[in-house]
Amino acid sequence: MRSHSRPVLAANWKMNLGPAEASAFLDGFLSRYAPRDDRTVVLFPSALVLAAVRERTQPRPDLRLGVQNVSTEDKGAFTGENSAAQAAGAGASFVLVGHSERRHVFGETDAQVAQKCARVTEHGLVPVLCVGETIEQRERGETGEVVLHQLRAGVSMLSHEAIRDMVVAYEPVWAIGTGRNATPQDASDVHLVLRAALAGLVGEDARAIPLLYGGSVNAKNAASLLAAQEVEGLLVGGASLDPVQWAEICGS
Ligand code: PGA
Repeated sequence: MRSHSRPVLAANWKMNLGPAEASAFLDGFLSRYAPRDDRTVVLFPSALVLAAVRERTQPRPDLRLGVQNVSTEDKGAFTGENSAAQAAGAGASFVLVGHSERRHVFGETDAQVAQKCARVTEHGLVPVLCVGETIEQRERGETGEVVLHQLRAGVSMLSHEAIRDMVVAYEPVWAIGTGRNATPQDASDVHLVLRAALAGLVGEDARAIPLLYGGSVNAKNAASLLAAQEVEGLLVGGASLDPVQWAEICGS
């Protein structure tokens, strides 16, 4: 059984920072953030930058690495794709699956998200399954229904053990990159719904699954979001590109 020290603080760099920029980021970040065993810090660089980040973080095994996406397939004629096996071989231990941009910009379906979660766990990696509603869905009162559907679909091919060892991130689509974060109460409300659903799937083991919040997190709002009930980590985009701000968030 895997256990992740909580909070889990995850930096989603998206399609930002090349190898040289990542190295400059790490100069700033590593000098400001000392290893701590009461939290898990994970960096998700571009897959092309993973090797450079891995090399630079070699002396810091407390920092974990991940990739932002993998293929539904294991290998073969899938030009441009990266497999979970390749991610594992390259030093990743986490994979973002079903991020809102994958779902909404690239049209990723629930079925593909489920297959990706399966590939990721087959190769010993931890999926960070992302779920979240659009503003229209929230206004129609469908938030609970939407996130539960995404959660159940996402884990549909996973064993009890694989579900127990995963991470789930609630990222409302309307909060991502907009500067409009969910309130700690909004985040808690949805996390309680997710926790109950996970308990329905794996019973007591649901407590082992860290529930992260993401969407316009910054150094100012991180502590109050982390203090909210059932919020056990943060998935951070924009603010994780600034080493000073990211170090502050990691220290929250
Ligand atoms: P943001 O992105 O922090 O820039 O809103 C979060 C995410 O997309 O994971």
